[in-house]
Amino acid sequence: MIITANKIMVKPRSKELLDWYDNNARVLPWRVPPPNRKEVAHSDPYLVWLSEIMLQQTVVATVIPYFEKFIKQWPSVEILANADLNSILQAWSGLGYYARARNLHKCARIIVKQYNGRFPDSEKKLLMLPGIGPYTASAILAIAFEKPATVVDGNVERVITRLFAISGRTPEVKSKIKSLAGELTPKHRCGDYAQAIMDLGATICSPRSPKCIDCPWLAACKARSLSIENNLPTRLPRKKKVVREGLAFLIVRTDGAILLRRRPEQGLLGGMMEVPSTNWAENGLTHISEAPLDLDWLELPGKVTHTFTHFKLELKVYKSAASEDHQLEGLWVLPEKLKEQALPTLTKKVIKHANLGL
Ligand code: ADE
Repeated sequence: MIITANKIMVKPRSKELLDWYDNNARVLPWRVPPPNRKEVAHSDPYLVWLSEIMLQQTVVATVIPYFEKFIKQWPSVEILANADLNSILQAWSGLGYYARARNLHKCARIIVKQYNGRFPDSEKKLLMLPGIGPYTASAILAIAFEKPATVVDGNVERVITRLFAISGRTPEVKSKIKSLAGELTPKHRCGDYAQAIMDLGATICSPRSPKCIDCPWLAACKARSLSIENNLPTRLPRKKKVVREGLAFLIVRTDGAILLRRRPEQGLLGGMMEVPSTNWAENGLTHISEAPLDLDWLELPGKVTHTFTHFKLELKVYKSAASEDHQLEGLWVLPEKLKEQALPTLTKKVIKHANLGL
């Protein structure tokens, strides 16, 4: 028992959270719901892995339709391993962080070649696979293999921070959170517990206005007892994003096809298709003379803006008619065939800006 601010605090226990989860688990397409799971039913490691990769940096509501499309198209890790990378990038189009899709393919191939199509159930082996870091490894171990691994994502961090009223954002604070989360993790119903604590963070212990009245750990929550739940976790001041600028070029053939090119495999939007553009520079000095061809360019009114993790991009869009017989390398794509290409959201915005389809 912990005494805080003249209040007698009870210790949080995994049982309260698991009881809550039995009645409140979100229904998600990759999830085996709690009444069926308990000790016996394990989730399919392929579905767990695929969903967890998609859920990195992406919210559940965005992931659901992508996940459903993927498992329809590639129902097993073997089928995914044999798929063409471009078709995977195309299906990933719009989900962002495209390195995840390339690593997904690499990882599927290793699972098939090296592990006979069976995901390993050791942390060490999981961590050696492309795209799998400590969080994803723990999620797979807990949900697919019922191992008492501790998952700590953003939601879990918030729950633990409030439960134990931890302030600060230093690396020491992070390891304290991890160790307290570890102490709470039970040895049974590991998959349910991992998903329960993530659901609690997403639905009850939300960043703003948490619904403490409905929380199974209300009586144990130190932040709530001190009325500081809204001030935790400690927020760092947001860094202002730098703005990069550039020019994008829509080159349109007489039959309406537009010229696309593939971005380099490595780096931002790696392997995705785009319209030609200048470099994206912070000084905004790009000039139409940097266009890939000397054509009769029409400057379209307005700008396309897009926010990446580390910068904001503003593109001026230029359009021109062109014949096929120039030296530019790329792929001519008719507007009605654009959906078959691996287009990132930025490219879609540029094409829409010029009313050329999508
Ligand atoms: N966020 C990431 N993985 C999740 C999961 N398995 N359940 C709920 N939310 C999640």
